[in-house]
Amino acid sequence: MSIIDELESLKAETLARIADAADLAVLDAVRVEVLGKKGSLTGVLRGLGALPAEDRPAVGKASNEVRTALEQALDERKALLADVALSARVAADAIDVTLPGRKRLPGRKHLINQITDEVVDIFTGLGYAVAEGPEAELDYYNFTALNHPPTHPARSATDTFYVRDLSEEVPGQTGPVTDVLLRTHTSPVQVRVMERQKPPVYVIVPGRVYRRDIADPSHLPQFHQIEGLAVDEGITFGDLKGTLDYVCKELFGKDRKTRFRPHFFPFTEPSAEVDVSCGICAGSGCRFCKYTGWQEILGCGMVDPNVFGYVDIDPEVHTGFAFGMGVERIAALRYDIPDLRMLVEGDMRFLRQF
Ligand code: PHE
Repeated sequence: MSIIDELESLKAETLARIADAADLAVLDAVRVEVLGKKGSLTGVLRGLGALPAEDRPAVGKASNEVRTALEQALDERKALLADVALSARVAADAIDVTLPGRKRLPGRKHLINQITDEVVDIFTGLGYAVAEGPEAELDYYNFTALNHPPTHPARSATDTFYVRDLSEEVPGQTGPVTDVLLRTHTSPVQVRVMERQKPPVYVIVPGRVYRRDIADPSHLPQFHQIEGLAVDEGITFGDLKGTLDYVCKELFGKDRKTRFRPHFFPFTEPSAEVDVSCGICAGSGCRFCKYTGWQEILGCGMVDPNVFGYVDIDPEVHTGFAFGMGVERIAALRYDIPDLRMLVEGDMRFLRQF
């Protein structure tokens, strides 16, 4: 085969490969293979020197023509493939302007935050300051300094989420030894506040609390409480009653009555639970209040002198009251919410009612 024939067949074969190249990468590979430094056309031209001098001009001319033709075909194919790629991208990114728009609803405060803010506002109006404490709390603040004996059932690992296990570090221990837990109530903040502030103390403490309960209509493993603490000279149970009666009327309406039932908490003495007259039956008894005419809404009492002992406040000089209410419970009572889980499920059809 003459060198001219060789050039012609290389040209025909390469043009076919260019036409077949499905994308830019394949096309570039063809270019390198034929026109590159070690390419086949370059190889043919390398043999030029061996030709008789009179044949060289014709072969040189032919090879230049092949090179020009291949370069042109490469450029055209490249432009075409780039076009195809662009059209594909444009088609993929296309916006269907006939689709209906997405409705964007304005944000709003969750019911739990609305009620929390409302209660905090009532108390700041009475001169209370807002205090907060950690959700991962020391056993000392959650139980010990709140006068819970070491064997108190609330300390069991079936009731409380423990965070740190120290059993390994305390030699000779049989039972679990833990010092950090998820607080089971907001009451530990009472101790934290009294540790750093001497009376008069008037604080309101909103916060999240945790208990090892399975979620059901009336329980959530994580919920919210609002704690109140007043310590001063001459604070009496009458002050506690008056304050809570006022707050209940603010929260539930002026026509609601309150009643105090004796109860027990390790950190208050005496202790009470407060009920509000049932809003559904106005006290005559219905399914909602289990036919008692009352709904329980909070726990309270006079600060136990033992608690004052932990924070170095003299119970002969100062007395105080404390209370703790569940925010989910207030929400449920106020809006007849039949299942507390609805408050955490995030269903906007429910949440937007408030
Ligand atoms: N901490 C108690 C509870 O979670 C409520 C409470 C607070 C009771 C303050 C008395 C005083 O049930």
